[in-house]
Amino acid sequence: MLNKRIEKELNEQINAEYWSAYFYLSMAAYFENKNLHGFANWMKVQYLEEISHVMKFFSYVNERGGRVLLKPIDAVKTEWKDEIEVFEDTLKHEQKVTGLINNLVNIALEEKDHATHNVLQWYVSEQVEEESSADEILQQLKMVEGNKHGLLMLDRELKQRIFVDTTKQ
Ligand SMILES: [Fe+2]
Ligand SMILES: [Fe+2]
Repeated sequence: MLNKRIEKELNEQINAEYWSAYFYLSMAAYFENKNLHGFANWMKVQYLEEISHVMKFFSYVNERGGRVLLKPIDAVKTEWKDEIEVFEDTLKHEQKVTGLINNLVNIALEEKDHATHNVLQWYVSEQVEEESSADEILQQLKMVEGNKHGLLMLDRELKQRIFVDTTKQ
C-alpha cells in the first residue's frame, strides 16, 4: 500500500503535471494565433508529453493501491510579449518542476519508499532533457532576435517534432 503522505504528494504532482500541460497548450494557442505553426507544434507535443507524465503517475498510484484525486487546474498565462518570453517562461517552469521532483525524491527517501523513489528517477532524467531542450530553443531565439528569416527557419525546424511516448521505456 502507498503511504498516505506519498499518496498526497503524488496527487499534488499529478495536478502540477496537468497544469504544465495546460500551460503549454496555452502557449500553442498563442503561437497558432501568430501563424507560427512550427512553434505551436512544438508546444502541442510538449502538451502531450505532460499528459503522459500525468498518466505515468496515475498508473503508478493505482498500481500501488492508492487513490488518484483530481484537483482543479489553476488558470494559466495567455499572453506573451514575444517568442523569447515564452521560452524564458518554459525554462523557468521546467526548473521549477525539477525542484518539485527533487523534493518528491527527498520525501520518498524520508519515507523509505524505494518503489516510489525508483519511479521518480525516470522523472529526474526527464527533467534534465526538459530543461536542456527549452534552453536550446531559448538560445537559438536570442541568436535570431530581430531577424524574421531566422525566426521562420526555426519555426520550420520545430514543425518536425513528433510526440513519442517515452514513459513506457
Ligand atoms: Fe512533466
Ligand atoms: Fe515538462
